[in-house]
Amino acid sequence: MSREQKIELSWIIPSALIPIALLGLLLYAYVTHGIHVPGQEGMIDPRAISQTAPFNTPGVVQTGPGTYQATIVGKMWTFEPKEIRVKAGAEVTFVASSADVIHGMRIQGTNVNIMLLPGQISRKTARFVKPGEYLLICPEYCGIGHHLMSGKVIVE
Ligand code: CUA
Repeated sequence: MSREQKIELSWIIPSALIPIALLGLLLYAYVTHGIHVPGQEGMIDPRAISQTAPFNTPGVVQTGPGTYQATIVGKMWTFEPKEIRVKAGAEVTFVASSADVIHGMRIQGTNVNIMLLPGQISRKTARFVKPGEYLLICPEYCGIGHHLMSGKVIVE
């Protein structure tokens, strides 16, 4: 191999490896942290959210032994409902959306960190093993009342 070929190869190899490594990181984030772009979980008309199931009845319902669905609507500047209660060990699937601007929903101590986009249904499941209060906040700046937007998950 000539000197020129060696130099060329020393560029070709990294320029092939870098995109492969980045793709690997994307897959890693997807698999281990569930990070993904908003998907087609479902679309709704954000103006009709208060008449659209399941958002017409926000709250928590038991869906099976130890499993719950929590329907949450984010709006300026509150969550509806502000508080949900489940039993320890519960597996809770959060189904959430926004009634106005872009909000988010992060639950401390869990892997729930989703965006609430008007017109888009977001979904995330978490298990609550330890009893206690888990603070739920809006991590997206959504206007002057952003810092007031909080709620909690109470695990009994
Ligand atoms: Cu809603 Cu910040």
